[in-house]
Amino acid sequence: MEGRQALPMSTEFQKDSDAAPGMAGPGPLAVVLHVNGHAHKVVIEPRTTLAEALRGPLGLTGTKIACDHGACSACTVWLDGLAVASCSVLAIEVGERPVTTIEGLAGPDTLHPVQEAFIAHDAVQCGFCTPGMIMSCAALLARNPRPDRADIEQAISGHFCRCGTYPHVVQAMLALGAGKKGTSRE
Ligand code: FES
Ligand code: FES
Repeated sequence: MEGRQALPMSTEFQKDSDAAPGMAGPGPLAVVLHVNGHAHKVVIEPRTTLAEALRGPLGLTGTKIACDHGACSACTVWLDGLAVASCSVLAIEVGERPVTTIEGLAGPDTLHPVQEAFIAHDAVQCGFCTPGMIMSCAALLARNPRPDRADIEQAISGHFCRCGTYPHVVQAMLALGAGKKGTSRE
Protein backbone atom coordinates (compact mmCIF):
# COMPACT_ATOMS: atom_id res chain seq x y z
CA MET A 1 0.00 0.00 0.00
CA GLU A 2 2.82 2.39 0.91
CA GLY A 3 4.63 1.64 -2.33
CA ARG A 4 1.53 2.28 -4.36
CA GLN A 5 0.87 5.60 -2.67
CA ALA A 6 4.46 6.68 -3.25
CA LEU A 7 4.22 6.26 -7.05
CA PRO A 8 3.69 9.55 -8.89
CA MET A 9 0.24 9.32 -10.49
CA SER A 10 1.27 10.66 -13.88
CA THR A 11 4.68 9.04 -14.45
CA GLU A 12 5.85 5.55 -13.45
CA PHE A 13 2.41 4.13 -12.68
CA GLN A 14 0.88 5.48 -15.87
CA LYS A 15 3.75 4.10 -17.95
CA ASP A 16 3.32 0.69 -16.31
CA SER A 17 -0.38 0.57 -17.12
CA ASP A 18 0.22 1.85 -20.66
CA ALA A 19 2.60 -1.06 -21.18
CA ALA A 20 0.17 -3.68 -19.88
CA PRO A 21 -2.66 -4.53 -22.30
CA GLY A 22 -6.03 -4.91 -20.59
CA MET A 23 -5.16 -2.69 -17.62
CA ALA A 24 -7.02 0.54 -16.97
CA GLY A 25 -6.11 3.70 -15.14
CA PRO A 26 -5.04 5.07 -12.84
CA GLY A 27 -6.52 8.16 -14.50
CA PRO A 28 -10.25 8.64 -15.16
CA LEU A 29 -11.91 6.80 -18.02
CA ALA A 30 -15.36 6.88 -19.59
CA VAL A 31 -17.75 4.00 -19.02
CA VAL A 32 -21.44 3.52 -19.73
CA LEU A 33 -23.64 2.30 -16.89
CA HIS A 34 -27.14 0.98 -17.57
CA VAL A 35 -29.11 2.10 -14.55
CA ASN A 36 -32.87 1.97 -14.05
CA GLY A 37 -33.48 1.47 -17.76
CA HIS A 38 -31.24 4.30 -18.98
CA ALA A 39 -27.67 4.36 -20.31
CA HIS A 40 -25.41 6.88 -18.54
CA LYS A 41 -21.90 7.79 -19.62
CA VAL A 42 -19.73 8.62 -16.64
CA VAL A 43 -16.06 9.52 -16.33
CA ILE A 44 -14.62 7.78 -13.29
CA GLU A 45 -11.37 6.49 -11.86
CA PRO A 46 -10.99 2.69 -12.08
CA ARG A 47 -11.07 2.47 -8.28
CA THR A 48 -14.62 3.93 -8.19
CA THR A 49 -17.15 1.54 -6.73
CA LEU A 50 -20.60 1.13 -8.19
CA ALA A 51 -22.04 2.71 -5.03
CA GLU A 52 -19.82 5.77 -5.47
CA ALA A 53 -20.71 6.08 -9.15
CA LEU A 54 -24.42 5.86 -8.37
CA ARG A 55 -24.31 8.43 -5.58
CA GLY A 56 -21.75 10.76 -7.24
CA PRO A 57 -21.97 11.28 -10.99
CA LEU A 58 -25.46 9.81 -11.27
CA GLY A 59 -26.90 11.54 -8.19
CA LEU A 60 -28.83 8.45 -7.09
CA THR A 61 -28.39 8.99 -3.37
CA GLY A 62 -31.09 6.49 -2.38
CA THR A 63 -28.29 3.92 -2.34
CA LYS A 64 -26.54 4.38 1.01
CA ILE A 65 -22.90 3.77 1.91
CA ALA A 66 -22.31 2.81 5.54
CA CYS A 67 -19.46 0.33 6.16
CA ASP A 68 -18.09 0.61 2.60
CA HIS A 69 -16.59 -2.87 2.75
CA GLY A 70 -19.37 -5.37 2.18
CA ALA A 71 -20.39 -5.94 5.79
CA CYS A 72 -23.76 -4.17 6.26
CA SER A 73 -25.71 -4.37 2.95
CA ALA A 74 -26.87 -0.73 3.20
CA CYS A 75 -25.67 -0.23 -0.38
CA THR A 76 -27.66 -3.12 -1.90
CA VAL A 77 -28.80 -2.71 -5.51
CA TRP A 78 -29.71 -5.22 -8.19
CA LEU A 79 -27.02 -6.15 -10.68
CA ASP A 80 -28.47 -8.23 -13.50
CA GLY A 81 -31.43 -8.98 -11.23
CA LEU A 82 -29.37 -10.14 -8.26
CA ALA A 83 -29.05 -8.22 -4.99
CA VAL A 84 -25.41 -7.18 -4.53
CA ALA A 85 -23.45 -4.89 -2.23
CA SER A 86 -22.61 -2.05 -4.60
CA CYS A 87 -19.71 -0.88 -2.42
CA SER A 88 -17.97 -4.13 -3.28
CA VAL A 89 -18.32 -3.92 -7.07
CA LEU A 90 -16.10 -1.70 -9.17
CA ALA A 91 -18.12 0.41 -11.58
CA ILE A 92 -15.80 -0.55 -14.44
CA GLU A 93 -16.65 -4.22 -13.83
CA VAL A 94 -20.37 -3.73 -14.42
CA GLY A 95 -20.23 -3.57 -18.21
CA GLU A 96 -23.61 -3.84 -19.91
CA ARG A 97 -25.33 -5.60 -17.03
CA PRO A 98 -28.45 -3.71 -15.91
CA VAL A 99 -28.39 -2.02 -12.51
CA THR A 100 -31.57 -1.27 -10.56
CA THR A 101 -31.52 1.08 -7.59
CA ILE A 102 -34.22 2.00 -5.11
CA GLU A 103 -35.10 4.93 -7.39
CA GLY A 104 -35.89 2.48 -10.19
CA LEU A 105 -37.99 0.07 -8.14
CA ALA A 106 -41.27 1.98 -8.01
CA GLY A 107 -43.42 3.00 -10.96
CA PRO A 108 -43.90 6.69 -11.79
CA ASP A 109 -47.09 6.93 -9.72
CA THR A 110 -46.99 3.87 -7.51
CA LEU A 111 -44.74 2.37 -4.90
CA HIS A 112 -43.37 -1.15 -5.16
CA PRO A 113 -45.44 -3.59 -3.04
CA VAL A 114 -42.48 -4.04 -0.69
CA GLN A 115 -42.31 -0.28 -0.14
CA GLU A 116 -46.05 -0.21 0.60
CA ALA A 117 -45.70 -3.12 3.01
CA PHE A 118 -42.79 -1.47 4.84
CA ILE A 119 -44.94 1.63 5.37
CA ALA A 120 -48.01 -0.35 6.38
CA HIS A 121 -46.07 -2.44 8.88
CA ASP A 122 -43.94 0.35 10.31
CA ALA A 123 -40.72 -1.30 9.13
CA VAL A 124 -38.84 2.01 8.84
CA GLN A 125 -37.28 4.08 11.61
CA CYS A 126 -34.26 6.25 10.73
CA GLY A 127 -34.42 4.80 7.21
CA PHE A 128 -30.70 4.51 6.59
CA CYS A 129 -30.75 0.75 6.04
CA THR A 130 -34.16 0.81 4.39
CA PRO A 131 -33.30 1.19 0.66
CA GLY A 132 -30.90 -1.74 0.80
CA MET A 133 -33.30 -3.82 2.90
CA ILE A 134 -36.11 -3.15 0.41
CA MET A 135 -33.92 -4.11 -2.55
CA SER A 136 -33.12 -7.46 -0.94
CA CYS A 137 -36.76 -8.06 0.03
CA ALA A 138 -37.97 -7.17 -3.48
CA ALA A 139 -35.39 -9.54 -4.98
CA LEU A 140 -36.67 -12.28 -2.69
CA LEU A 141 -40.26 -11.60 -3.69
CA ALA A 142 -39.35 -11.67 -7.38
CA ARG A 143 -37.99 -15.21 -7.09
CA ASN A 144 -40.39 -16.42 -4.39
CA PRO A 145 -43.83 -14.76 -4.21
CA ARG A 146 -44.72 -16.59 -0.97
CA PRO A 147 -41.62 -16.49 1.22
CA ASP A 148 -41.84 -18.03 4.67
CA ARG A 149 -40.16 -16.68 7.79
CA ALA A 150 -36.94 -18.60 7.14
CA ASP A 151 -36.76 -17.30 3.55
CA ILE A 152 -37.21 -13.73 4.75
CA GLU A 153 -34.71 -14.03 7.57
CA GLN A 154 -32.19 -15.49 5.14
CA ALA A 155 -32.78 -12.65 2.65
CA ILE A 156 -32.18 -9.92 5.24
CA SER A 157 -29.51 -11.73 7.23
CA GLY A 158 -26.69 -9.56 5.84
CA HIS A 159 -28.44 -6.28 6.64
CA PHE A 160 -27.51 -4.30 9.74
CA CYS A 161 -30.40 -2.26 11.10
CA ARG A 162 -29.30 -0.34 14.16
CA CYS A 163 -32.92 0.70 14.79
CA GLY A 164 -33.95 -2.96 15.13
CA THR A 165 -36.76 -3.03 12.57
CA TYR A 166 -36.25 -6.71 11.81
CA PRO A 167 -39.54 -8.01 13.34
CA HIS A 168 -41.53 -5.46 11.35
CA VAL A 169 -39.67 -6.26 8.15
CA VAL A 170 -40.50 -9.93 8.63
CA GLN A 171 -44.16 -9.09 9.34
CA ALA A 172 -44.34 -6.90 6.24
CA MET A 173 -42.93 -9.62 4.03
CA LEU A 174 -45.09 -12.37 5.56
CA ALA A 175 -48.17 -10.23 4.96
CA LEU A 176 -47.12 -9.63 1.37
CA GLY A 177 -46.63 -13.33 0.80
CA ALA A 178 -50.05 -14.02 2.27
CA GLY A 179 -51.65 -11.32 0.10
CA LYS A 180 -52.62 -9.21 3.13
CA LYS A 181 -52.42 -5.47 3.53
CA GLY A 182 -52.65 -3.25 6.58
CA THR A 183 -50.59 -2.92 9.71
CA SER A 184 -48.96 -5.57 11.84
CA ARG A 185 -51.10 -4.41 14.75
CA GLU A 186 -54.40 -5.33 13.08
S1 FES B 1 -21.90 0.00 2.61
FE1 FES B 1 -21.83 -1.69 1.27
S2 FES B 1 -22.03 -3.41 2.55
FE2 FES B 1 -21.94 -1.73 3.92
S1 FES C 1 -34.20 1.85 10.17
FE1 FES C 1 -32.49 2.81 11.12
S2 FES C 1 -30.83 1.51 10.66
FE2 FES C 1 -32.53 0.44 9.95
